[in-house]
Parts: sequence; C-alpha cells; structure tokens
Amino acid sequence: MGMSPGRPRPRVPWLLAPLLVVAGATATQPRRVYGVLGGSVLLSPVLPPNKTVKEIEWSFSAGAGATIEVAEFGPGSFKRPDPKDRFKDRLEMFNETALKIGALERGDSGVYGARIKLYPTLVEDQSFNLSVYGPVPAPEIQHRLLSLSTQGCNITLRCWVPAGSDAEASWQLGSSPGTRWGQLCEDGQTLCLAVAASALNSSYTSG
Ligand SMILES: *[C@@H]1O[C@H](CO)[C@@H](O)[C@H](O)[C@H]1NC(C)=O
Ligand SMILES: *[C@@H]1O[C@H](CO)[C@@H](O)[C@H](O)[C@H]1NC(C)=O
Ligand SMILES: *[C@@H]1O[C@H](CO)[C@@H](O)[C@H](O)[C@H]1NC(C)=O
Ligand SMILES: *[C@@H]1O[C@H](CO)[C@@H](O)[C@H](O)[C@H]1NC(C)=O
Repeated sequence: MGMSPGRPRPRVPWLLAPLLVVAGATATQPRRVYGVLGGSVLLSPVLPPNKTVKEIEWSFSAGAGATIEVAEFGPGSFKRPDPKDRFKDRLEMFNETALKIGALERGDSGVYGARIKLYPTLVEDQSFNLSVYGPVPAPEIQHRLLSLSTQGCNITLRCWVPAGSDAEASWQLGSSPGTRWGQLCEDGQTLCLAVAASALNSSYTSG
C-alpha cells in the first residue's frame, strides 16, 4: 500500500497522506501504530470515561518471542522492571496513560500490551501493533504525454522511489468520486490516463 507513514512528507503537490488503516480499539484486534526508524511513537490507550487509572503494566512481544514486561505506570511513578532490556532508556511515561518509545529501531516492531487497572477493581487490556519503517525517500513523479488532441490526452504518470527502500508507491484518484479515467498500466506501477479535455484539471495523488 502507501509509503511508510509517520513522517512529514515532502512538499510535492501530488502526494497525499498514505492511507492509514487504524483499527478500532477492540478487545481482540491490536490497534495499528506506525513509526519511523529513529523517530518516536506514542502508545495511548483509550480509557472509559470517568474512570481513574490506578496503574498500567506495559508488555512487549515480537513475533514468536516471549512477552516481557517493559514498564509500569503507578500513581506518579514510572518503573522499568528491566532497565537493561532492548529499550534501555528509550521508554518514557508521556503522561499518566501514554507510553512514548523513542529512537525507534526495527526490532521494536511488535505487539505492546497495556494492562490497565482502574479504580476500584476494573482491569482492562488494550494492545498496539507497532510497525517501524525506514524513512521514506523523496519520490519522483515522471510524466509522459502519449497523445494529445482536442478531445483530450493520454498520459502516463510514474512515481519512483529508490530501490531498496521500504516504500512502495500506489496511485489513488484524488478528485471527486466521479468518473475514473485512470488505470494501472501493464507494468502495474505506472498510471495510464486518458483524460477528456473537459477534465484536464483533475489531480491524481500518489501515496
Ligand atoms: C496522554 O496523552 C495523550 C496524547 O496526547 C492523550 O490522548 C491522553 O488523553 C493523555 N492522557 C491523559 C491522562 O492526560
Ligand atoms: C501486526 O501487524 C502485522 C503486519 O504489519 C501482522 O502481520 C501481524 O499479524 C499483526 N499482529 C497482530 C497480533 O495483530
Ligand atoms: C487514448 O488512447 C485510447 C486507447 O489507448 C484511444 O482510444 C484514444 O483515442 C486516445 N486518446 C487520445 C486523445 O489520443
Ligand atoms: C484547476 O484546479 C485548481 C486547484 O484545484 C483551481 O484553483 C482552478 O480554478 C482550476 N481551474 C479550472 C480551469 O477549473
């Protein structure tokens, strides 16, 4: 799908924020969270209204690895059960409920659990599925006019991202949900457009 999210995008007019699918905080499905290598993310549980947090235990598990407890939020306190674990000094208590992970590494990708204890006796589990991506290089959009007539024109647009980066390019029609003139060309990456003269002002976005 889109390029790695979570980073200010270059000022190229055709670029649109990538489509982030953020699943709701249901009990079973972890919320998707994206981070960029070297950046930081905030894991912020959604609390039921009018409840006071007693404590939050944060855990981490990557793939098939064991689940480890990485932080404990108490009333005005922040504890790291094992300060020598993979996170070292990169975890912070952002506020009473949100955990901040800094200087993100690829190995930080995984599922973070928050066991939230609320007054008086309620216990709630929420989880976050973090994916850490490499920074997205500035893409380059190339266009080629194939034919032009009074009826309109046929053009191709191609969005390049450097090979070896995490980014993938995809195309999306950015104007109104009306007529679609574009389709992917045979190479599956270039956008082939047959644009009627009346519609020459449409813009397409690559994300
Ligand atoms: C903590 O910060 C997050 C992100 O800014 C915010 O959504 C959340 O409401 C804050 N929680 C508290 C208890 O202030
Ligand atoms: C977390 O997201 C990855 C995709 O980035 C997916 O493969 C994995 O199954 C997800 N894990 C859970 C527990 O939902
Ligand atoms: C664009 O290409 C289509 C088919 O490839 C062709 O039928 C159409 O006439 C072309 N339009 C213009 C304006 O050249
Ligand atoms: C083309 O689009 C731009 C930006 O959406 C708008 O400002 C301009 O008025 C449009 N021009 C025409 C001829 O529709």
